[in-house]
Amino acid sequence: MTLAGKRVLLIISGGIAAYKALELIRLLRAAGCAVTPVLTRAGAEFITPLAVQTLAENAVFQDLFSLTDEAEIGHIQLSRAADLVVVAPATAHILARMAAGLADDLATTLLLATDKKALVAPAMNVRMWQHPATVANLASLRARGVFVVGPEVGEMACHEFGPGRLAEPAAILAAIAALLAPEGPLTGPLTGRHAIVTSGPTQEPIDPVRYIANRSSGRQGHAIAAALAALGARVTLVSGPVTLPDPPGITVRHVETAAEMREATLAALPADIAVFAAAVADWRVAQAGGEKIKKTASGAPPILELVANPDILAEIAAPGPRRPRLVIGFAAETEHLTENASAKRQRKGCDWIVANDVSPATGIMGGAENAVLLITGDGAEAWPRMGKEEVAGKLAERIAAHFARVASPPPSGEAAEREK
Ligand code: C5P
Repeated sequence: MTLAGKRVLLIISGGIAAYKALELIRLLRAAGCAVTPVLTRAGAEFITPLAVQTLAENAVFQDLFSLTDEAEIGHIQLSRAADLVVVAPATAHILARMAAGLADDLATTLLLATDKKALVAPAMNVRMWQHPATVANLASLRARGVFVVGPEVGEMACHEFGPGRLAEPAAILAAIAALLAPEGPLTGPLTGRHAIVTSGPTQEPIDPVRYIANRSSGRQGHAIAAALAALGARVTLVSGPVTLPDPPGITVRHVETAAEMREATLAALPADIAVFAAAVADWRVAQAGGEKIKKTASGAPPILELVANPDILAEIAAPGPRRPRLVIGFAAETEHLTENASAKRQRKGCDWIVANDVSPATGIMGGAENAVLLITGDGAEAWPRMGKEEVAGKLAERIAAHFARVASPPPSGEAAEREK
């Protein structure tokens, strides 16, 4: 990914996640993006101005009333000189100050004075994130056009578990790349390609209040959608019910059931690339009741008759004029990974399979990391365990390399020979 020539004003506010801002700066610099860092007073309690300045290769601004800073570059100019203003991490406090329109330090003054898009990456304790005040502040910022990436669900520094963890630096980078795209998608090796990505679980109703679901968080699929967009693809993300925010710069179709996911996926065709990362329920209840199922006087449990759901991957991968050129399935297995996944690749008719071991001991299902085996027509390749965003980035790069290798492709939707 290149962000050469782009400029980000990065505001680092004061939370323990501030240390991850250093990695974000490193990634931005590696992508060729100029970074002007602003460290709040609380931010400087967690990381040092020297570390920020060294990685950013740029002076760090901290003080609204600095005589030297104001003489060299006034705060109004500072707020306008960037292409995008990013607050990462964004604490509950800075979100509240932004929502209220306060300008009581350099960071909030810049946020009030800027005429550029703003992206916030919240990070805070679960209860602070779920507090009605924070919920209302976020809603008001979103309504004003502020973009939000994360937070993610996971264990936090305070040992509580839930939403509130700062999005991974790679995910923030992908959101920045999507927002910095000149018009719509970013220009990159996948510019002009359309990718469909399914993500998350499906929920199959039993009755109006109960449903069958699974533990998929959607994190891997959402990260793949963001990574493809960052390489310039136009992306349609078909997402089951997840707690993740919609990745910026991507068309998102929200669905609940497998049948709805199939409809939305077919409606999104034609496409060049289709990645089926969703954990689609294999079965649904044959006759989901319109009324809540009551306990019987005898105490006998109800017997649910299940019927098979449509296999969206197999249907889209079947030869035909609307088959995407590259169809990628996922295989979540708990045993005999390579054999089962290779057999699945054949059975489903997809080009590549991303296989992973979802035995509970791996912590992969619903977790932040993934260890995958990429199976293509050339064989199987084991990738080391890494963050789901990194897996997504690597897969997107592989997809881009694939399209660069195959001869000049037909436009989306034309018949294509099976990809290697
Ligand atoms: O057969 P299995 O569910 O293990 O296959 C997994 C792959 O097939 C995943 O890529 C998943 O998104 C896709 N799939 C689908 N529709 C289904 C079941 C699975 O697209 N009904």
